Amino acid sequence: MTTAPVDDAHARMSAFIRDPYPTLARIRAASPVSIVEYGSGLPVWMITRYHDVRAALTDPGFGQDVRRSQGIANERGGGLALGSDVVHMLNSDPPDHTRLRRMIQGVFTRKRVELMRPLVERIAGGLLDGLREREVVDLVTDFAFPLPIMIICELLGFPPEDLHSYRTWSTAILTHGGAMSFDEATAEMQAYLRTLMAERRQRPREDILTDLVQACEAGELTEQEVFSMVFLLLIGGHETTVNMLGTATLALIHHPDQLDWLRADLAARMPMAVEELLRYESPVSMATMRFTTQDVDVSGVEVPAGELVLLSLGAANRDPDRFTDPDRLRLDRDDPGHLAFGQGLHRCLGTFLGKLEGEIALTGLLSRFGRIELAADEATLPWRTTIMLRGLESLPVSLRGQ
Ligand code: HEM
Repeated sequence: MTTAPVDDAHARMSAFIRDPYPTLARIRAASPVSIVEYGSGLPVWMITRYHDVRAALTDPGFGQDVRRSQGIANERGGGLALGSDVVHMLNSDPPDHTRLRRMIQGVFTRKRVELMRPLVERIAGGLLDGLREREVVDLVTDFAFPLPIMIICELLGFPPEDLHSYRTWSTAILTHGGAMSFDEATAEMQAYLRTLMAERRQRPREDILTDLVQACEAGELTEQEVFSMVFLLLIGGHETTVNMLGTATLALIHHPDQLDWLRADLAARMPMAVEELLRYESPVSMATMRFTTQDVDVSGVEVPAGELVLLSLGAANRDPDRFTDPDRLRLDRDDPGHLAFGQGLHRCLGTFLGKLEGEIALTGLLSRFGRIELAADEATLPWRTTIMLRGLESLPVSLRGQ
C-alpha cells in the first residue's frame, strides 16, 4: 500500500488561511516589498510594513481604477478577473470616486450613524434572544451574519426575507466559491435589483435605494452605477462586520484574562476593545488591488509604474515597529492607529457603522451570556478561503447565562 502524496502548496495555503501571521511576519521582516503569486500565477508586489502601507494608502502614485488594473492583469496573461464590469467607488479613482462617494457619504457620518443605535440594538437583541434556548449555536450563521446584513438591508430598503440569496451572491463574488459562479451571482443580483428599482420608481420610500433611483432619474448616476453602489454597500456593509464578530469572539474565548477585564466594565471598555480586536484580527486582511501610476519608492525599493500592488493591512497591524508586542491581544492598548479601515481617499465609509455594530453586538453577547465556550475542535474551524478577508465560515459555541 502506498500513502497518498501530500500536496505541499495546498497544505501551505491551508496553514496560511488558518494562521497567516507567522508567514506575514517573515515576509515583512525580509523586505519592504515582496513579489508574490496572485490568482493564476500573476506576479503582484506586496507591501507589509505599517509605515509603507499607510503611506501607500494615501499616495496618488497608487491607483485603484479596476479597468486599468484589469488591463495590466490581461497584459500579463493568466486570466485573472478583477470584476471590472462592476465599477464602484472602491475600485475607481477621482473624479469618479469623488462623485460616487459624495452621493452617499451623508448617510454614514458619525451623527447619522449614532441615530441608528436603536435599530442596531433592536436587531442584535432580537437575534441574541433567539439563541437563549439552544445548547450549541453557530455564532457566525446565527448572529454575526444576520446582524449586519439585516442592518444594511434596512438602510437600503431590501426585503429581509431574501437574506439567504444575498449571502450566496456575496460568497460567490468575494471568494469565487460556493454554489454559484461569479458571473451567475452578479447576473442574478442585477435582475433582482432591477425589479426593486422599478418598485421604487412607482412607490418611493425613505431608503437609500429610493435616493439612488432618484439620482439616476436626475441623470446624476447611471443605472449601472446604482447597481455597483448597491453591490458595494451590500457586500462591504456586511462581509467585514461578520468577519469581525466571528474572529473577535474567538479571540475573546482564547484570552479569558482579557475577557474578564472587558466584562468588568463593558460599557466603558468596549470601544477601546473593539479597536484592538480590529487591529489583532483585521477583517479586511488585504486592501483591494492597486496599481502603480508612476515609479514609486517604497523604503528604498523601487516599484516600477504599471505594477499590481497588494497592501497587507493584516501584516501592517501586526508590525512590531509600530505596535509593541503586536501578536498579543491587549484590549487596553488604547491605540486607534490601526489600518483595519484603510486610510486616505478610500478609508472605509462604514467606519462608524462598523464600530457601532461591533460594540453593540459584543456588549449584547457578553451581557447576556456569562460563559461562552468553543463547541468544536479548534483545528476543524472553517476559515474563509481567501487571502483578502480574514474570517470564520462558522463558529460553534455553547452559551450559558452565567
Ligand atoms: C468592521 C467593519 C468594517 C471593516 C473592517 C471595513 C474595512 C474597510 C476597508 C479596509 C476599506 C478600504 C479598502 C481599500 O482601501 O482597499 C473599506 C472601504 C469601504 N467600506 Fe468598509 N469596513 C467595515 C464596515 C463597513 C460597513 C458597515 C459599510 C457599510 C456601509 C462599509 C462600506 C465601505 C465602503 C462603501 C468602502 C469604500 C470607500 C471608498 O472607496 O471610498 N464598510 N472598508
